[in-house]
Amino acid sequence: MHSNRITFVGGGNMAGALLARLAKLDRYDLRVADPDTAQREQLAKLPGVDTFIDNQEAVDGADCIVFAVKPQIMRAVCTNLTETVGDLQPLLVSIAAGIECDHISRWLNGYRRIVRVMPNTPALLGRGATGLYGDRDVTEDDIALATAVFSAVGLAA
Ligand SMILES: NC(=O)c1ccc[n+]([C@@H]2O[C@H](COP(=O)([O-])OP(=O)(O)OC[C@H]3O[C@@H](n4cnc5c(N)ncnc54)[C@H](OP(=O)(O)O)[C@@H]3O)[C@@H](O)[C@H]2O)c1
Repeated sequence: MHSNRITFVGGGNMAGALLARLAKLDRYDLRVADPDTAQREQLAKLPGVDTFIDNQEAVDGADCIVFAVKPQIMRAVCTNLTETVGDLQPLLVSIAAGIECDHISRWLNGYRRIVRVMPNTPALLGRGATGLYGDRDVTEDDIALATAVFSAVGLAA
């Protein structure tokens, strides 16, 4: 069973590539938060994608949060969402290069329902290969959802 609401925190190159393809599937309730107005306006053109300036507002009710920001701001982004993640207990997916599940967990009060994924650059063109790693509290359904999301931009396993 797939969760429905997926929120991307960060709407840059990789999130944009994923959202463009996921939107075509008409299968998920897609949201994205990004501070850049032009970026939000571009993403808002995708069918069924809601855009937000505020991360807290964007993740409200999310079944899955995809962290698609630069690695150096992951700590600040996670720390700001610690309470919300504790309340919601969503699946977390991180694509931030070099950021381990242990880091994310530490910034989120020990939360461990995290899938770390590493797409490669051809994913931007829908022809990527993505490796996935599930942390301690991740279920088979969580892996299935994360795999389905990244299958939108190529091979995922
Ligand atoms: N691109 C790839 O091929 C690739 C491959 C594997 C993994 N990754 C990983 O994917 C992540 C994103 O990469 P990318 O290439 O998509 O980067 P990107 O194009 O710079 O996208 C990141 C976006 O996050 C926004 N942002 C900045 N601060 C934010 C905040 N506090 N809350 C929400 N959004 C915020 C940025 O806005 P501003 O520009 O206004 O700051 C930008 O639009 C990185 O961690 C990278 O390691 C990328």
